[in-house]
Amino acid sequence: MAHPMFHYDEKFGEVIFDYCRERLSLDPVPLDFGSAVDVADGVLRGLISEAGTPAEEVLDVFRTHLAPAVVSIDSPGFLAFIPNAPTKNSLLFDMVVACSGLNGTSWLESSGVVVAENQALDFLAGAAGLPEGSGGAFVSGGSLGNLSALTVARDVGRARLGSATARVRVAISEDAHSSIGKALHILDVEPFPVPTDDHRFTRGALEEALAADPHPETVVGVAATAGTTNAGIVDDLEGLGAYCRDHDLWFHVDGAYGGAAMLSRSHGHLFEGLRHADSFIVDPHKWLFAPLDCCALLYRNPTVARTVLAQQAGYLDVLHETGDEDYDWNPSDFGIHLSRRARGLPFWFSLCTNGVEAYRSAIQRGIDLAAWTAERIESSDHLELVRPAGLSVVLFRRRGWDGARYTTWGQELLKRQIAFVTPTKWEGETVARLAFLHPDTTEELVTEILDSTRD
Ligand SMILES: Cc1ncc(COP(=O)(O)O)c(C=O)c1O
Repeated sequence: MAHPMFHYDEKFGEVIFDYCRERLSLDPVPLDFGSAVDVADGVLRGLISEAGTPAEEVLDVFRTHLAPAVVSIDSPGFLAFIPNAPTKNSLLFDMVVACSGLNGTSWLESSGVVVAENQALDFLAGAAGLPEGSGGAFVSGGSLGNLSALTVARDVGRARLGSATARVRVAISEDAHSSIGKALHILDVEPFPVPTDDHRFTRGALEEALAADPHPETVVGVAATAGTTNAGIVDDLEGLGAYCRDHDLWFHVDGAYGGAAMLSRSHGHLFEGLRHADSFIVDPHKWLFAPLDCCALLYRNPTVARTVLAQQAGYLDVLHETGDEDYDWNPSDFGIHLSRRARGLPFWFSLCTNGVEAYRSAIQRGIDLAAWTAERIESSDHLELVRPAGLSVVLFRRRGWDGARYTTWGQELLKRQIAFVTPTKWEGETVARLAFLHPDTTEELVTEILDSTRD
């Protein structure tokens, strides 16, 4: 007789499936977040108790109070930060993953997961131009991807300098994502900040900064960005990558947001330098239309990454002694994690079933809409482009507005359930920012947003 917690209640199962069916069929997904949860209301009070609360009751609290108090990141009106727009097939397959008891840690436990995830990783490595034999794992997000890759970069750099404790630095530009700075801090690696012209990190800027530094030999790597979060700028991957190859520096590329645009027909050429990368990340949970949380982490030489990151313990030796020489691939060896959700499978399933062309066109749609929006702004009498659209990001200013006015404008748009738009800072000035990602965001919606700046 099953423990009561492990008994499947078919009736309640149907209730949950109905909820999921309803959520999946919303078209378009509404923004929600009419108001914050009123904590004083005590909606959660007493739900956790010795005897437990009936499942329908807890689901009802979620449905009525909690779910509407979340801005739906998959709504076509979500244009803040970096949105997340999972395909229907990726969401459906995420449910399969949730129900399937998959621990995507090792070849021993889950070779069926590993081969499928690796098929998706191979596809991304191929699109990036990385050589055969490249590989890695899916980790929880760009932050962990950057941290894992930079850990390997640090250790390889220290080995090159001949000391496991050598002072090492990694070159970054001021537009590198905050998670890069955080990773370097955790790793006790100093950033080597390289000043850039117009926010694009180039080989010329790197060479100039190194030439002016008294200890250039301590710089063991370069972290470039393929699509800055704030403005969608793709660094000089070709120049920086070639420099790193020539000077034996680790070349890491953070494409968490923008890396997906390597698949775009109009902008793919900006990513050709990815072929030089020693490590590269791209988040399927951003512009590759997979559910949170999912980052593809790739290494040019996975063996080196394994040497640095694989966890060693008596009870884990068995993972490394499968005797399967050809395919001894443990995702746990390539990131800072051990137990691991098979988080790459929803992306893999969606990629297989929708086909690459559907991805190309959905990515292109974000780029085209950004270009269209930039044109509209340029022809407006009260708005100004801050800079040309970068990938799918548009920065603009409303003449006469101060920082606070941008914030109230965004709040008003959300209150009216039109869009979720948050301001950003550009060279110290508060400006408006739109990040397009959902292919169903329409020109009509953009027009409504731009028109709403007229006061
Ligand atoms: C360029 C870049 N790198 C890293 C990250 C961090 O990714 P995550 O939020 O998945 O940890 C982001 C997030 O927006 C990003 O845009």
